[in-house]
Amino acid sequence: SGQSLVLGLESSCDETAAAVLRGDGTILAEAVLSQEAEHARFGGVVPEIAARAHLAALPAMVARVMARAGIGFDALAAVAATAGPGLIGGLIVGAGLGKGIAIARGLPYLAINHLEGHALTARIPGIVASGAPVFPYLLLLLSGGHCQCVAVEGVGRYRRLGTTLDDAVGEAFDKAAKILGLPWPGGPHLERLAASGDARRVALPRPLLGRDGCDFSWSGLKTAVAQRVAKGDAAASDIAASFQAAVAAVLADRAAHALAMLPGATALVVAGGVAANGAVRAALSGVAASRGVALVAPPIRLCTDNAVMIAWAGIERLNRGLVDTLGHAPRPRWPL
Ligand code: KG4
Ligand code: ZN
Repeated sequence: SGQSLVLGLESSCDETAAAVLRGDGTILAEAVLSQEAEHARFGGVVPEIAARAHLAALPAMVARVMARAGIGFDALAAVAATAGPGLIGGLIVGAGLGKGIAIARGLPYLAINHLEGHALTARIPGIVASGAPVFPYLLLLLSGGHCQCVAVEGVGRYRRLGTTLDDAVGEAFDKAAKILGLPWPGGPHLERLAASGDARRVALPRPLLGRDGCDFSWSGLKTAVAQRVAKGDAAASDIAASFQAAVAAVLADRAAHALAMLPGATALVVAGGVAANGAVRAALSGVAASRGVALVAPPIRLCTDNAVMIAWAGIERLNRGLVDTLGHAPRPRWPL
């Protein structure tokens, strides 16, 4: 019901997060701790370091958000934890803690698919100014670990329309940024560099543009950036601007195809860290406008990895009686 309180836990990649949400969408307390600094010197997320960091941070974080919410565990209706897809060590930490709390208080346990969390975030009451999108809508998930188009037709009813054939789009930003000598994670750095460049001075490929369906491929674009840098005849800012323009153009094209594959779509919802990119947002809002659907972008802190979305997916599932057993095993690979 609207009064049910759910604790959500997220530990599938390099963000440790916990949140307490009420069934009516009120966020009682939330916390997110990024492990970015611990992984930066390795130039990417190191799975064992991530798992150990989740174990070090999550229990005390749960105690903190419960205290801030002003409730005890007995006040909860359920515990929801990300159970995949993601790095298995981290998933085991979060799911294990969630199950422990569920056992101790006799609460239902909800094993949440991380992608479902992203898919349902826009439905949290009050989160999107234009109002929660109505099913079916299109989700474009653009993060460091995922790059896919999903038809969201109902709670538990998802159809993947397209995915990446190689890297995720955030990964492509990070690799291009690294080639340009920028720190990890490079997406935001590349966007800043691109602001002072001119995309027209450097021609780069636009992988899969115009192709049927809405799959993605980024490795050819990354290789083209590497070749252009090696050639040494272009300014880094111009290469960055051209890379970003190519990504935005491809994403717009893929989104247009995806919208054509879901004719009843009421909205184009974006999630993932890359949704923070201004050029990407502008390109996608152009597509949405030309197709007559709303572009829905939840606030960035709820677009990137967080536990509010996991608690919310838990509420949506609990409302439909979709609870899991304590035997549920975390899954590193778990397509929607
Ligand atoms: O969703 P997210 O925070 O985390 C996971 O992937 O789990 O996404 C992070 C990704 C990174 O690859 C980062 O470089 C990229 O999103 N990113 C951006 C921007 N901000 C974050 N890429 C392009 N432009 C940005 N402004
Ligand atoms: Zn994510």
